[in-house]
Amino acid sequence: MPLSQESLDAVLGLRPFRFFPQIDSTNDHARAWLLEGAPAGAVVIADEQTTGRGRFQRTWNAPPGTAILMSVILRPEVAPSKLGRATMVGAVSVAEALATVPSLPMEMIGLKYPNDVLLVGRKVAGILAEAVWEGDRLVGVVLGIGLNVRIDFTGTALATAATSIERVTGVSIHRTDLADRLLKRVDHWAARIGERSLFNAWRGRLTTLGQRVSVRLSGDDTWAIQGLAQDVDEEGALIVRDDSGADHRIIAGDVTLQS
Ligand code: BTN
Repeated sequence: MPLSQESLDAVLGLRPFRFFPQIDSTNDHARAWLLEGAPAGAVVIADEQTTGRGRFQRTWNAPPGTAILMSVILRPEVAPSKLGRATMVGAVSVAEALATVPSLPMEMIGLKYPNDVLLVGRKVAGILAEAVWEGDRLVGVVLGIGLNVRIDFTGTALATAATSIERVTGVSIHRTDLADRLLKRVDHWAARIGERSLFNAWRGRLTTLGQRVSVRLSGDDTWAIQGLAQDVDEEGALIVRDDSGADHRIIAGDVTLQS
């Protein structure tokens, strides 16, 4: 069933939402709506995204009918040092929504630090949480989620790195229902953004821990740390132990698993 205003009206009930058959970026629209006063839980959903954004200025586009593309407005009351937890909210919520899909056993679902959701080791969803400030006042956070439902990556550069739910399950997914289940998990975890239970749920699903990783630090293409992903902390930082035994606390980095 296609995503439409009517299908979303039927399942989202009283939740404020804006649906677009095509949009440039749901995060950009949600940012503007947040600044106009959108309440917590409001969501922008699109069927097609043409200039979507990922981390590190990557693009995240999706043809019509193939994905869940949404940006949820959060108004978290946490210290700025804990805003990284918005990414945890998104990642854990997607993992839990996926766990409701028939033919997707829990063992197939994992999280790669910091913001990727994996199905059988390939990326099925990405999270882009962006804090919106007015001066030094936090207005809120836009939690962008892109979830591949039936994108076919065969023959593309992403063929071995990315996947879609239907590719793995072979079962047709009702995107409106899955979007609704995902939003309910976001509501649940957004209300607990400062709690240890969110951190535990995120940490418990991270498949990165114990693996050898390379880290490219944001804004720096040349310096890469290599070592063992030891642990994560409650603010969402990754602790990497390099080969000399020194620990590095990574707050914003692009993490690649070493084969
Ligand atoms: C990443 O893995 O780098 C994050 C990707 C986030 C993509 C989503 S799609 C919906 C929302 N709107 C955007 O422009 N980006 C996010």
